[in-house]
Amino acid sequence: MSIKYNADSKTFILETRDSSYLMKVSQYGNLLHLYYGSRIPDEDLDYLIKVQDRGFSPNPNEAGNDRTFSLDYLAQEFSSDGKGDYRIPSIEVLNCDGSQIFSGKVESHRIYRGKYPLKGMPSVQAGPDDSVDSLEVRLKDKVSGAAAVLCYSVFEEKNVITRTVRFINCGQKAMKLLKLMSATVDYKASEYEMIHFSGRHVMEREFVRVPMQSGIHSIGSSRGTSSHQYNPFAILCEKGANEDWGRCYGYSLVYSGNFLIEAERDQFRQLRINVGVNPKGFSWFLEPGEEFQAPEAVMAYSGNGLTELSKRYHDIYRENLCRSPYAKKPRPVVINSWEAAYFDFDDEKLLEIAREAVDMGVDLFVLDDGWFGKRDDDNSGLGDWKVNRRKLRTGISGLSEAVHAMGLDFGIWIEPEMVSEDSDLYRAHPDWCLKAPERPMTRGRNQLVLDLSRRDVCDYLIEAINGILTEARIEYVKWDMNRSISDVWSGLLPAERQGETAHRYVLGLYYVMDEVILKHPDVLFCGCSGGGGRYDPGMLYYQPEIWCSDNTDAKARLKIQYGTSFVYPVNTLESHVSVCPNHQTGRTVPIGTRGIVAMNGILGYELDPTLLDNKEKKACREQIRFYKEHYEIIAYGDYYRLESPYENLYVTAWQHVSRDRKHSLVSMVITDREGNDAQRYVKLKGLDAKAYYQIEGLEGRYSGAVLMNAGIPVPNDLNEYEGTVVCLDMINPCGQ
Ligand code: GLA
Repeated sequence: MSIKYNADSKTFILETRDSSYLMKVSQYGNLLHLYYGSRIPDEDLDYLIKVQDRGFSPNPNEAGNDRTFSLDYLAQEFSSDGKGDYRIPSIEVLNCDGSQIFSGKVESHRIYRGKYPLKGMPSVQAGPDDSVDSLEVRLKDKVSGAAAVLCYSVFEEKNVITRTVRFINCGQKAMKLLKLMSATVDYKASEYEMIHFSGRHVMEREFVRVPMQSGIHSIGSSRGTSSHQYNPFAILCEKGANEDWGRCYGYSLVYSGNFLIEAERDQFRQLRINVGVNPKGFSWFLEPGEEFQAPEAVMAYSGNGLTELSKRYHDIYRENLCRSPYAKKPRPVVINSWEAAYFDFDDEKLLEIAREAVDMGVDLFVLDDGWFGKRDDDNSGLGDWKVNRRKLRTGISGLSEAVHAMGLDFGIWIEPEMVSEDSDLYRAHPDWCLKAPERPMTRGRNQLVLDLSRRDVCDYLIEAINGILTEARIEYVKWDMNRSISDVWSGLLPAERQGETAHRYVLGLYYVMDEVILKHPDVLFCGCSGGGGRYDPGMLYYQPEIWCSDNTDAKARLKIQYGTSFVYPVNTLESHVSVCPNHQTGRTVPIGTRGIVAMNGILGYELDPTLLDNKEKKACREQIRFYKEHYEIIAYGDYYRLESPYENLYVTAWQHVSRDRKHSLVSMVITDREGNDAQRYVKLKGLDAKAYYQIEGLEGRYSGAVLMNAGIPVPNDLNEYEGTVVCLDMINPCGQ
């Protein structure tokens, strides 16, 4: 078992292959946090708990006259509220008597084989080869009767611990939950830094690193989605940690709505991190017997820097998260009509694009926005999922047949969660969108958000989408969501439950996706929210890939994809080659580099191939051939960030290495060429130090040790924005 309970010391010990996580029940029943870090032997860690009479640190009643025991500074597993812990709490409640106190004491615990169940929400699953054990610790507040059940699952070999909390009103009276974090971890006094990924539409997941100083540093979303602005993932690391050195802790939330990741450095220089649903605008009314389930947090630890931490997430998210059978199937190379035609197309134009795409080696044609209702621009038509016969005379089925006849599979774009005011759906059901009574609505992209907290709206959507999927032969769906949510108010909830709307929306979305996506295992679903506005593990549970950003400029994508790579594996990231000057930035980058960058993900195209010259078409054909040849390494290999676009202004580099370390691809893109430049070298990673490799473009053979320590030269004949991919093959595994 990877989870043990030592009844003498009342200590819970959770062990992954390389990490240990310990907590202990105090003499008064509080659950104290003991240790999280590199795997340590099973020894008594009580000596770590140092009590002391500290000024202005209150002592719980049960401690009697002992002035040294205080929740004000002791490391806790799930902080109570209102009982003398002034740090950011794990929970906030409003009891029926108006008090805001929850004092959870350990009542019972349970250790069992397998993963804890999590109803109605996405979560990481135990695979057939995974050894997974779970622990549930029940903390009870004696006065209100409410209980918080802390759940942990240990994925031993994957080096990951997942967590969630179930809050149950076991009392006699109704109460309100105002905040419930999925995970809290308290760290001892030290110097920490937080790395998180913030951005905006068309520039998502920029790498941000901040020292933890006194006070609270938080990231989060109140936009209804996980958002472009922040991603539900953060790393806490020791000061100065880099790719290969330092203790690093990852916190990733499997959730697609409002989230909060907050860290507080307290008065004693200790650090607490909380991860969960954003309490802003949130409340949950609980009648006696009712419960609330927090989403899942996925924690990983690396004692050897950021690369290893990313690998832990890549492995578990690639293998244990997505329910679609497509998660483990090779993905098609798509051509998408958006940047090729926007709203301006008819069957003929689309078929011309498809015809050229066949010649390039593309597998699937995706018809993006504009095929339905009255949709000649983005001001109308959302909600009317009926084909526009003026544009597509033979309907979706006719177009699909014609595309299939050319040898391509066929996909479409939908944005089911939205409605335009100028649509039949809105005219029939104006009450179906989120909007507070008497308040004028707030538009975003001139559209409104359907109220997915309502079951009737969800059921309507399920029927509508299933209708589209049965009407024609469709192998791929791009599921979009193009605005931030506002005016959060649902027509079907009473006033005291309105604080539930945003979370109920997310649950409604998961319900719709359960019914649609999981019921169509042969359809590949690609997530999208104006690009990467909902790039989170919650969506990846349903959709194996996500359109990473609306920014298709290869230079900008270097940063976007670099940030994304810290937690999400390459085979979840859709990346397309588009035309230059680029539609988002106006920049011109050689077609070769556009291919290299797009291949650092799931390669696709977003252009009108009829407008390409022969040289460009040839380049695209060659990219697709190369990508397919190396698909295994790219999609399933280990990933290494070699040169960061934030630190190395001259060259950005990354590397894919096959799991057996026999093959590798090293990609480099020049980002700032100067005259008569210095010769640069890129040090490789992940190779077998003792084996010898043959390197494309270099004479002779070199050991992994040499390549990883001395590096390979960055070709000096590459101009600004030019790039190259170098292939390495092991020629002698024994190092003879
Ligand atoms: C969003 C998507 C784009 C495209 C448009 C269509 O912005 O991210 O790729 O599908 O919507 O309106």
